[in-house]
Amino acid sequence: MRTLNDVYIIGAGETKFGELWEKSLRELAVEAGLRAVENAGIFTKDIAALYGSNSLAGTINGQENIGSLLSDFSGIADQNIPAIRIEASTASGGAAVREAYLAVKSGEYDVVMVGGVEKMTDIYGSDILDMTSSLLDREWEAFFGATPAALAAMSARKYMKDFNVEKEALAMVSVNDHANASKNPNAQFKNKLTLQQAMNATLVAEPLNMMDCSPISDGASAIIVASEDYVKKNKLEGVKILSSAISQDYLAVHSRKCIHDLASTRLAGRIAMEKAGIKTDDVSFAEIHNSYSIYALMELEELGFSEKGKAKDLVYDDIKLDGKIPINPSGGLKAKGNPLGATGVSQFVEAYKQFKGQSGERQVKGAKYGLLHNMAGTGSTSVVHIVGGE
Ligand code: COA
Repeated sequence: MRTLNDVYIIGAGETKFGELWEKSLRELAVEAGLRAVENAGIFTKDIAALYGSNSLAGTINGQENIGSLLSDFSGIADQNIPAIRIEASTASGGAAVREAYLAVKSGEYDVVMVGGVEKMTDIYGSDILDMTSSLLDREWEAFFGATPAALAAMSARKYMKDFNVEKEALAMVSVNDHANASKNPNAQFKNKLTLQQAMNATLVAEPLNMMDCSPISDGASAIIVASEDYVKKNKLEGVKILSSAISQDYLAVHSRKCIHDLASTRLAGRIAMEKAGIKTDDVSFAEIHNSYSIYALMELEELGFSEKGKAKDLVYDDIKLDGKIPINPSGGLKAKGNPLGATGVSQFVEAYKQFKGQSGERQVKGAKYGLLHNMAGTGSTSVVHIVGGE
């Protein structure tokens, strides 16, 4: 029988997230990439392939062909290794890590670098809204005025009505993210948020206000993925990627049976946990894709952390760093930031630091399994990985 390689993360690096006026798209990517290489303690000549995760550089920065750009600007073009961009909207990062995982697992490559980058703040006025709306079904939803915030708000309204959930439950998700981000030097927002501030912020799309939304962010993150052989040969200590799963749903939210259902998340979560041989109760911490606070509640339920409609019971204590299931120790999309193509990769950077005991004040004690959930917009694609375990 064919044996497949075990797969490890052997290095991780990232930039700060935020409004980084002084750095270009390529500079951010290379900064994160070099940090990951340095952190892994390897030579770039060992990298067999480079996967770039990016969502909207063509639209926002007028730059396509991201794989070649990253290879060239990071000074490894003369190695002639494959360098390609992987795009799956805001799930690009998770999808890119999955491709690296598959390539290493199959034995095709021993070392793959995954770099995620997005530079979103170089846009004036509300044009960015149109650009993020291009991630939706343009013809049937965005042309009629739907934006990511509007669709999240519609799901929120139905969810809150169906399960008798008050706005406070959504606000508490953001309070938790900000509390964790205040302990993360790379986070976009390091301010703690009170429940009152979260409840009373400027309305964006009822019932969601600014504190229910992830921000517009610049940033980059990178990891080095390597085979067990390479890890052993070089006497490295990596963090294992135990499983990887990806699943798809309708792009158009109106095509789904229910607008607060996240089938892709449910399926990817179930498969990833099955493949890793664990249950939800075994998960020590999770990074989840809360581009909007309502998605956090829906995701916690779809991933099995609570019954449908009951995630409101988790948000006061259980999701805290010292709670039953710490959620988004990094600060999550709301407060660490959401530079789309970098977001999914940055979840791995956080997990790597957590398992290496490098998370400082936001360290989750005694963590064994981390669940990383990255999602495209309203849930058209979900990618779930389980890491750790050793
Ligand atoms: N949380 C906390 N503060 C935020 C914020 C957020 N989500 N968004 C902006 N701010 C802060 C800014 O830092 C700025 O603070 P400052 O005055 O101290 O510098 C202030 O609010 C105004 O920022 P501005 O950029 O003018 O806000 P805006 O009103 O143009 O945009 C949102 C706010 C919420 C509409 C915008 O962040 C947004 O569209 N977010 C969603 C992005 C998205 O959909 N991503 C997923 C794509 S699928």
